Amino acid sequence: MLAQYYFLPRGRYLLLLFSFLLSCGGTDQKEVELSIPQRVNELMAKMTLKEKIGQMNQYNGFWNVTGPSPKEGNAKEKYDHLAQGLVGSMLNVRGAREVRAVQEIAVNKSRLGIPLIIGFDLIHGYKTISPIPLAESASWDLEAIRNSAALGAKEASAAGINWTFAPMVDITRDARWGRVMEGAGEDPYLGSVIASARVKGFQGDDLSSPNSVAACAKHFAAYGFAESGKDYNTVDIGESTLHNIVLPPFKAASDAGVRTFMNAFNELNGIPATADKILQRDILKRDWGFDGFIVSDWGSLKEMIVHGYARDNNHAGELALNGGSDMDMESYIYLSELESLVEEGRVTMAQIDDAVRRILTVKYELGLFDDPFRYCDTTREKEITGAHEIRAGALDMAKKSIVLLKNNNAVLPLKREGQTIALIGPLAADKNSPLGNWRIAGENNSAISVLEGMRKYGANTIIHEQGVKLVNEIPAFHREVNINTTDKSGIKAAKNIAKNADVVVMVLGEYGFQSGEGRSRSKLDLPGFQQELLEEVYAVNKNIILVLMNGRPLVLNWADEHLPAIVEAWHLGTESGNAIAEVLYGDYNPSGKLPMSFPRSVGQMPLYYNYKNTGRPGAKGADAGSVFWSHYGDEKNVPLYPFGFGLSYTEFEYSEITLSKPELTRGTKIEASVTLTNRGVVKGKEVVQMYIRDHYASVTRPVRELKDFELVELAPGESQQIIFEITPETLQFYSANKKWESEPGTFSLFIGTNSATTRSAHFELE
Ligand code: NOJ
Repeated sequence: MLAQYYFLPRGRYLLLLFSFLLSCGGTDQKEVELSIPQRVNELMAKMTLKEKIGQMNQYNGFWNVTGPSPKEGNAKEKYDHLAQGLVGSMLNVRGAREVRAVQEIAVNKSRLGIPLIIGFDLIHGYKTISPIPLAESASWDLEAIRNSAALGAKEASAAGINWTFAPMVDITRDARWGRVMEGAGEDPYLGSVIASARVKGFQGDDLSSPNSVAACAKHFAAYGFAESGKDYNTVDIGESTLHNIVLPPFKAASDAGVRTFMNAFNELNGIPATADKILQRDILKRDWGFDGFIVSDWGSLKEMIVHGYARDNNHAGELALNGGSDMDMESYIYLSELESLVEEGRVTMAQIDDAVRRILTVKYELGLFDDPFRYCDTTREKEITGAHEIRAGALDMAKKSIVLLKNNNAVLPLKREGQTIALIGPLAADKNSPLGNWRIAGENNSAISVLEGMRKYGANTIIHEQGVKLVNEIPAFHREVNINTTDKSGIKAAKNIAKNADVVVMVLGEYGFQSGEGRSRSKLDLPGFQQELLEEVYAVNKNIILVLMNGRPLVLNWADEHLPAIVEAWHLGTESGNAIAEVLYGDYNPSGKLPMSFPRSVGQMPLYYNYKNTGRPGAKGADAGSVFWSHYGDEKNVPLYPFGFGLSYTEFEYSEITLSKPELTRGTKIEASVTLTNRGVVKGKEVVQMYIRDHYASVTRPVRELKDFELVELAPGESQQIIFEITPETLQFYSANKKWESEPGTFSLFIGTNSATTRSAHFELE
């Protein structure tokens, strides 16, 4: 009997059974339609306990290592396990040929031939690198962000990948944490809509399409609240912060249909996330109805012993499965411990079956049972890798990610010709840093540098000096970055070219691997001798345009005070230099807005716009000058650049806010509108932002929260009315009743160009 499956839309499959009835010399063809759950059940009925546990086991491949290796020299054992059907997934195996090689072992050598799901950290592009996720988030352009994820999925899927460990949807308020580069910043609303856009981009409309990959919302949960911004550190937050700030983007990812979740390295209020039953079993799987599977983070089962939570491997396996972790990444614990744990009754067969059912379901949805090699076509890989469409998408996204932080006297855009431009700084000609961190498949030094971009656009004379080196050598992905702290010899040459230049463009910031996993910093200023270089050059030429490349908010007080123009260009990926040149020359009018507050000093951390008022927000009137209020004696409370901040080459004017009515009743809505006018001489885009403050509630509410926004493009002189709808649902929060609801009361509404806007209106909810 031969069996063949055909994919039908909406996850239904047609199983055609061709029975060769030799006795009557003819063919009797029957059609039986089986749903994915039926196919999973049929397969599970044939599986031994050991084979089921195998599906819950994920191994790292033999190339990239994206975490500390718990076992050395075990490639042979891994190959054997593949052939024995004891591996459900591999990560860090990439390339159509390489993936085929491991898939062939799983499919052709193991008893049941269950295909592997191949995971990879496709964080911001595969070979063609798009901007780091924090940068993309600065675009506030959900369609562009969706498209960027879709293009990444297309290129990665052609290289054999069918599952990405992205998006990272961790909200973070602390720029010291290196992984801020990987997320959408500090705000739960912006984080939620971006999470949804990214999931849709990666997964597309049809998971079984060879162009899409399964997505993974990570790190569940609260990893971004690591104490003091130190990676992997303890998290201790209350229920209100957990539900109102941390969980919403995860919920949005789940609602968008994300097929997998990853738990986290951190403990949350004393329980390692890997074993957190309330988070994983109660909230995610039960309350939110998530029916995909949860993978642990790298070795996080085993780390529960180090946390002081599990006694030994056996105990860690028990805690993790009871806690709801379905797949073990690189701890080797499920494979070695689950069988005995079932025998001893410390975990149940039902828990194992549930985990395996979830994993197999996603494999069926990806179409892996229909053709395990669907992602392993080397011709397709060749055609798609670096294709024009993907490069063009990366350039588009890079331009949209740039944030103009300062532009006094319209020094930007640059004149196109007749100028001598001194291009200075350790990152000006750097082709590696713009790729940022998490660009595992990206070739070193493959980005377009600013120098290359500037020479291509415009007809000015560009002279370049590095000034100072930022790092001593190109570090490997997992090695500390070794900052240059001894060699200042290039400063003189930099000053020499700056002296006679019409304009100086300085490209400073962080080395590409200075943010990312394990890259926390206790300082947020320009590393190495860059500040000194900047001030020395300024001494000979004040006409400096500072272009920043960085993976996190930096402290920029001096630059803000002295320089006429500052451009936040993050780590923008492969097309970096082209995007920056287009913006500097005004071919593209920047419209990015900061997804994180930029501090005035590292001591302000954690810093976020949606803080609570406290009982002592300020000392006014007769109390002015008193110390008895919530503040620092040596620093302002407000950031240097607030959340949502970003300028344009044009000027936008906002009208006052009009409310359709002053009172909101259940089942109705209020419309809040403003008219936006482009008062400048060039076309431009503005992100119109709406914030709301709930003045009193059963749990105190932030001073304001982003509730909606709209990206609007206007020609010079053009006006547009922007209308936001507010319903009682808009005003919901996780209340003292431990549920999402809105409470009657007084609300203020703010509409404007960033989170510090003061244009307001007021209404009541009955
Ligand atoms: C550890 C990281 O925390 C996680 O985000 C990543 O997906 C895994 N390593 C695999 O590389």
